[in-house]
Amino acid sequence: MTQKISKIGVFTSGGDAPGMNAAIRAVVRASTYFQKEVFGIMRGYEGMIDGEISKLGARSVGNIIQRGGTILKSARSEAFRTKEGRLKALENLKKLGIDSLVAIGGDGTFTGLHHFYAEHGVPSICIPGTIDNDIAGTDYTIGYDTATNTAVEAIDKIRDTALSHNRLFFIEVMGRHSGYIALNSAIAGGAVAAIIPEEYTTFDQLYAQLEQTGRTNKKSSLVVVAEGSRMGGAMDLAKMVAQRSSYFDTKVTILGHLQRGGSPTYFDRVLASRMGVAAVEGLIDGKTDVMVGIDRNVMVYNKFDDIMKGRKHEIDPETLRLAKILSI
Ligand code: F6P
Repeated sequence: MTQKISKIGVFTSGGDAPGMNAAIRAVVRASTYFQKEVFGIMRGYEGMIDGEISKLGARSVGNIIQRGGTILKSARSEAFRTKEGRLKALENLKKLGIDSLVAIGGDGTFTGLHHFYAEHGVPSICIPGTIDNDIAGTDYTIGYDTATNTAVEAIDKIRDTALSHNRLFFIEVMGRHSGYIALNSAIAGGAVAAIIPEEYTTFDQLYAQLEQTGRTNKKSSLVVVAEGSRMGGAMDLAKMVAQRSSYFDTKVTILGHLQRGGSPTYFDRVLASRMGVAAVEGLIDGKTDVMVGIDRNVMVYNKFDDIMKGRKHEIDPETLRLAKILSI
């Protein structure tokens, strides 16, 4: 089935992620290619409500594929959670004749668009853009690869100084509810442990592991901690170690928002480009209330209800097992 759409609105919402610009570019270029008009909505749902919307063309998205952040800016909108806010947004879309939407963001963004579609029937497709990689229905989200590479680069640098002084480092990475960056940067960075929200590790277990590595002549240790770890952040863990013994010379590094910036990797640029084109093609084909995903290297469309109802992108137990084998 094809859908009679002629004007597509595109926006980014929620936490920004490297590769969002590449996705915007792909949506704009694909829309132009298929002879649809395309409009950029600033600051996500906030700009939709405030009417900050302008026409884009193939040339307005030149020189952005390599840039981090988002040219459309991003926001988390409280107003869009209200019926009045959504009505105001609808009026602004109608004024410009925008008849379909592409949202680039995370689960909060998708939930907003799902309600909007249910209330007002505007055909809409979501593209998963978040460094957390925690969205069901896709093997990867845009920005995760870049953020994890940034974390690995930092871990490599910390390793140099850790080894020079025989120190124990706790390195905190992003992920309030997700351990993807922590677990995979720990494997790639050769850390002794990854402490993630999805797995319950006790402090005693962690301490025993640290003592064990000391006994096997390991000179320095790196522990990667997701900010949402159930045991506490890197600061808390370092304090707990110091309270137990003065054996370890412990230091803490919190990577924070630097993981959200920077030039996207080749992987994120290509993923974002594929997802952007798939979103526009999906709209033209009559798809709505779906999220584009990548499943074993194939573009797929997931119904909102299938991916959002209590589901999360689970950590692969095999990856956890691998991390344990390698951390002795
Ligand atoms: O969702 C992406 C993310 O970077 C999380 O990893 C992090 O916990 C959160 O956003 C931080 O959000 P904010 O930038 O709003 O503080």
